[in-house]
Amino acid sequence: MARIIGAVASTHVPAIGKAIAEKKQNDPYWKPFFQGFDYVHGWLAREKPDVAVIFYNDHGLNFFLDKLPTFAVGAADEYGNEDEGWGIPVARAVPGDPQLSWHLINALVADDFDITMCQQMLIDHAVTIPMALMWPGEAWPVKIVPVSINTVQHPLPSLARCLSLGRSIGRALQSYPRDLRVMIVGTGGLSHQLDGTRAGFINKDFDQLCMSKIADDPQALTGYSIHDWVELAGAQGVEFLNWMAMRGALTGRVKELHRNYHIPISNTAAATLVLENEDVPAQMAA
Ligand code: DHB
Ligand code: FE
Repeated sequence: MARIIGAVASTHVPAIGKAIAEKKQNDPYWKPFFQGFDYVHGWLAREKPDVAVIFYNDHGLNFFLDKLPTFAVGAADEYGNEDEGWGIPVARAVPGDPQLSWHLINALVADDFDITMCQQMLIDHAVTIPMALMWPGEAWPVKIVPVSINTVQHPLPSLARCLSLGRSIGRALQSYPRDLRVMIVGTGGLSHQLDGTRAGFINKDFDQLCMSKIADDPQALTGYSIHDWVELAGAQGVEFLNWMAMRGALTGRVKELHRNYHIPISNTAAATLVLENEDVPAQMAA
């Protein structure tokens, strides 16, 4: 049976890709951020996931404002990247696991999620930057199932809806008969706003609240509306929806193993989190 081993949540700021390409990991500006991944590297080396289910938001590479699905699930053999214009190198393609993708798609539709299924899908910096952070240098050792959540064009799905989406995927993973070690990834955030009169807005207190609630009490965060979230976390802080879905997919007993928070990386409050998922029988799961 598939086992959900835990999750990594990470900021996906494109400038990180440029810093990696220019080997700036130890520069004073970058060190406090990159150091936060030392723990992640050890955890991944110990846990050895086979597959990563990645909740992220596409920023216009695969979907644009003309057609923007609320939820889209990749079902491709391989996911390519293209030049997005941030001055970062084009990333290598990442292998998919279409058999697992279709299992998740079937389960989601059976659970009344009206998703878009993508047999061709480009992945943008919201996937490639966290991959490069988790597995620096070496070949990326996992297959992926990318799940894209609209955090770009309003109306956006609610926090509760994204938590439910994740839970549906978590249940589907638990019933998957292949012996796989599955990790969950949530990317983006934390507070940031890239444009408008509040460009550069960051809210440390609210970020700390989110990080403290996500492991033990994600339900508490569902009381905030999307408009509350824009006000409290900035227009792009809504990328936290990906973290909510990630948390939902952890169906066992969840424990925070590691956290790093550093302001700023580019315009963003940068955060890294590792959560452990201890398997419990389905009926006992929180
Ligand atoms: C930045 C942050 C993002 O989440 C993103 O997608 C692009 C840029 C930034 O802070 O520069
Ligand atoms: Fe983003």
